[in-house]
Amino acid sequence: MKQNSLIKGKVHYVGVNDRNKHLFEGMWPLPYGVSYNSYLIDDEKITLIDTVDINFFEVYLQKIQNVIGDRPIDYLIINHMEPDHSGSIRLIKQHYPNIKLVGNKLTFGMVQGYYGLAEDQHIVKDGDTLDLGYHKLTFHMTPMVHWPETMMTFDSAENILFAGDAFGCFGTLNGGFLDTRINTDIYWDEMVRYYSNIVGKYGSPVQRALQKLAGLSISTICSTHGPVWTENIGKVVDIYDRLSRYEAEEGVVIAYGSMYGNTEQMAEVIAAELSAQGIKNIVMHNVSKSNPSYILADIFKYKGLIIGSPTYSNQIYPEIEALISKILIREIKVRYLGLFGSFTWAGAAVKRMGEFATQSGFEVIGSPVEMKQSMSASTYEQCQALGAQLAQRLIADRK
Ligand code: FEO
Repeated sequence: MKQNSLIKGKVHYVGVNDRNKHLFEGMWPLPYGVSYNSYLIDDEKITLIDTVDINFFEVYLQKIQNVIGDRPIDYLIINHMEPDHSGSIRLIKQHYPNIKLVGNKLTFGMVQGYYGLAEDQHIVKDGDTLDLGYHKLTFHMTPMVHWPETMMTFDSAENILFAGDAFGCFGTLNGGFLDTRINTDIYWDEMVRYYSNIVGKYGSPVQRALQKLAGLSISTICSTHGPVWTENIGKVVDIYDRLSRYEAEEGVVIAYGSMYGNTEQMAEVIAAELSAQGIKNIVMHNVSKSNPSYILADIFKYKGLIIGSPTYSNQIYPEIEALISKILIREIKVRYLGLFGSFTWAGAAVKRMGEFATQSGFEVIGSPVEMKQSMSASTYEQCQALGAQLAQRLIADRK
C-alpha cells in the first residue's frame, strides 16, 4: 500500500514525527512534539533534501522506499548540518553507497567531523545550479540561519523553497503535511516559540536571507520543521520578518522570582497599574514555574519587559540570572525595561540587574524599585509609578 506523499511536481514529503522527545536541544519543551522534514525528488536524478534524526531511520527509509522502491538515490542535498537533520547521513550513505553529497565548503567540514565521510562530495557555491531533469535547483547561501553552513535550495520548476530551519515551527504533522490539509492553529504560537528559542540570536542573518530571497517567486516553502507552507506563505514570512527585526506588539512581560511571595506582591502592583492605565496585554511569569522557553517567546512578542528579583546570597535570584543570560544571548533589541526586587538584610539583585540593563541596551523606564522585606506604602507607590511610566511609554508609541 503506497502512502500519499506527493507535494507537487515530483517532490515528495518523507519526513518523520517525534512525539517521544521531551526537550528539543535538551532545553525546550515539546508539548506538541516536533517533525523532522525531509524531501525526496523522484526525477531523472533522484534527490533527497536533508535527512532526519537518526532515531527515526527505519521509518524514514520505509518512506523513501515507498516512493522510489529499490531504485538508487543520486544526490543528497545537505541544507543544514544540525543533527536533527544530518543525523541519518551516514546510514543513508550505507544504504545508497553511490549517492553524491551536495553541500558547501563549510558543510563538508562538518560532514567529516560528525560522520567521518570525505568522499562523493559535490561542492556548491552561492548561485550554483543542479539540473535533475524536470526540477532545476539553485543554491542560496544563508549563513547563520541557523548555523554557518546553512543554505537554502530553490526549485525554479515548481517555485519551491527548501528552507532548512527557516519558516519552521515546533509541532508534529498529524495526518497531513500540507497547510491546506490540516488545522494550523497550534503552529503559530509554536512558530514564535521555535524562532525565539532556536533562531532568536540570528535576527540580522535572517533579515539578510529574507532580502536575498525577495526576488524569488515562491509558491511552496518546505521547511525542515512543521507544515509545508502554501496558502500561508505571506503570514509565515511576515512572522519571521517581524521577529528577526525584533518588532513587538504593545504589551508587557513581567518575569519575577519570589521565594516567599513578597517580590510577587510588587509584580502584582505593577501589573495592576499597567492595566489601570490601559495596557491589556500583560503576561506574568513566575520564573520558578514558567519554563524559559515560553518566557522568551513572550519577550519576543511584547515591547515591555519588567524583571523582578529577590537578592539571593548577595546575587540575582538564580532563575532570573538564567533568564537574563538567555535574553542577552539572543541580543534582543528595542525593548522597554523596568526593574524591581527585594532583599532582607542587604540588597544586591537590583544593582546587579542594572548591569544587565546596560548590556542589553534596552531603554530603562522609571527608577528601579527595591524593597526591604515586605510591602510598605512607599514601595507600593514606587511600584505603581513604575507601572504607570511603562504604560505611558507604550501608549506614546500608539501615535
Ligand atoms: Fe532543526 Fe538547526 O536544526
